[in-house]
Amino acid sequence: MKILDTKYMGLRLKNPIIAGSCGLTSTVEGIKKLAESGVAAVVLKSVFEEEVIKEHEETLKNNLGAFENNMEFLDYFDYQIKDDVLKNMASLIEEAKKEVDIPIIGSLNCATSGEWISYAKQLEKAGVDALELNVFKLPFDVEMEADAQEKLYLSIIEKIKEQVKIPVAIKIAPYSSNLAALVKKLESAGADAITMFNRFYNVDFDIMTDEVKAGNPYSSEQDYYNTLRWVSIMSGKVSCDLSASTGIHSAETAIKMLMAGTTTVQVVSKLYKDGIGSVAGILKNIELWMDKRGYVSVDEFRGSVHHEPTENSERFERVQFMKYFSGHNPQQIL
Ligand SMILES: Cc1cc2nc3c(=O)[nH]c(=O)nc-3n(C[C@H](O)[C@H](O)[C@H](O)COP(=O)(O)O)c2cc1C
Repeated sequence: MKILDTKYMGLRLKNPIIAGSCGLTSTVEGIKKLAESGVAAVVLKSVFEEEVIKEHEETLKNNLGAFENNMEFLDYFDYQIKDDVLKNMASLIEEAKKEVDIPIIGSLNCATSGEWISYAKQLEKAGVDALELNVFKLPFDVEMEADAQEKLYLSIIEKIKEQVKIPVAIKIAPYSSNLAALVKKLESAGADAITMFNRFYNVDFDIMTDEVKAGNPYSSEQDYYNTLRWVSIMSGKVSCDLSASTGIHSAETAIKMLMAGTTTVQVVSKLYKDGIGSVAGILKNIELWMDKRGYVSVDEFRGSVHHEPTENSERFERVQFMKYFSGHNPQQIL
C-alpha cells in the first residue's frame, strides 16, 4: 500500500492529482465523476468577470428599451446579473460539497480590482475550501510598462489575502520578463500556492478563407517541458506550494513534476482526450513506479531532482542547442 497523501495549501489531499479548472468542473455531475475517478480535489471552472459584464450588456440591449435613461434601474440590473451568476456558482458549490468529500477550489478571473475582492469573498462564503486566481491578460498595449502587469498581480493577491481566510493560489502564465523574480514576489505577497502554468485560448488562421479561428485548445503529452523546467528551478527557492499544470497526461509526467518539487499536479487536456476515468490509470501507474523504485510515500521522492546551484544547474539553465547539450548528431541525418 503506497502513501499518496499530500498537503496542499494546508488542505489534506488523498493524492497529488487535481482536476484543473475547465468545463468538466462546471457541473455537479462532472465533479462527482471526477471524484469517483480518484482526483484528490477539483478547481472549478473560473467565474469570468468579463463574461458577467457581457451578459449584462446583452440583457440590457434586449430588455431595457424604455428604461434606457433610468440610472437606478441600470444599477439594479447590474447588481441583479452579477448576483445571478454568483448565486448559480454558490448553489454549484453547495451541491458539490454534499455529493463529494474532496476539497473544492473556486477559480476567479476578474478585470477590476474591486470585483476580485467582492467575488473572492462571495466564493468563500459559498463554501469553497480554497481559491485559485486566474490572472493573465495578454499585454498587447504598446504603451504599458513591463512591470505594470506584475504590479497588478501582486496587488490583487495582497488585497484578496487581506479579505479572505481560506488559502489562495495564483495561476500564472509562463510569459514574464523575469519569471523567477515574479514567482518569488507572489510568494512574498501572500500566495499560498502558485500554479504553473495556465494554457490559453490560441488563435489560428484558415489559409483558404482568411478567417481567424480557434486553435487546438488541448495540450499534447510533449507540452510539459517548460513547466518541468520552471517548477524545478523554483521549488527550492519558494516555500509556498507549487502546482504543475500543462501537459500532464501520464503517470510518468506527474512523477517528474513531483520529483521537481511540486506538491500537486493538475490535469485537464488528458481528461478531455482520454476521459475522466483515465485518472485511475495514472494513479495506478504512479503506485507501480513507486513499487519498482522502493518508495512508500510521495514525500520520499518529492523534490529529488530540483534545480540546485551546484549540481544539475546547467541542464536547467541552458536554452541554446550547443553541441554539448543538444544530444543530436547531424551525421545520423546526413
Ligand atoms: C476546455 C478548457 C477550459 C478551460 N477553462 C479554464 C478556466 O475557466 N480557468 C482556468 O484557470 N483555466 C482553464 N483552462 C486551463 C486549464 O485549467 C489548464 O491550466 C490548461 O489546460 C493546461 O493543462 P492541460 O495541459 O492539462 O490541459 C481550460 C482549459 C481547457 C482545455
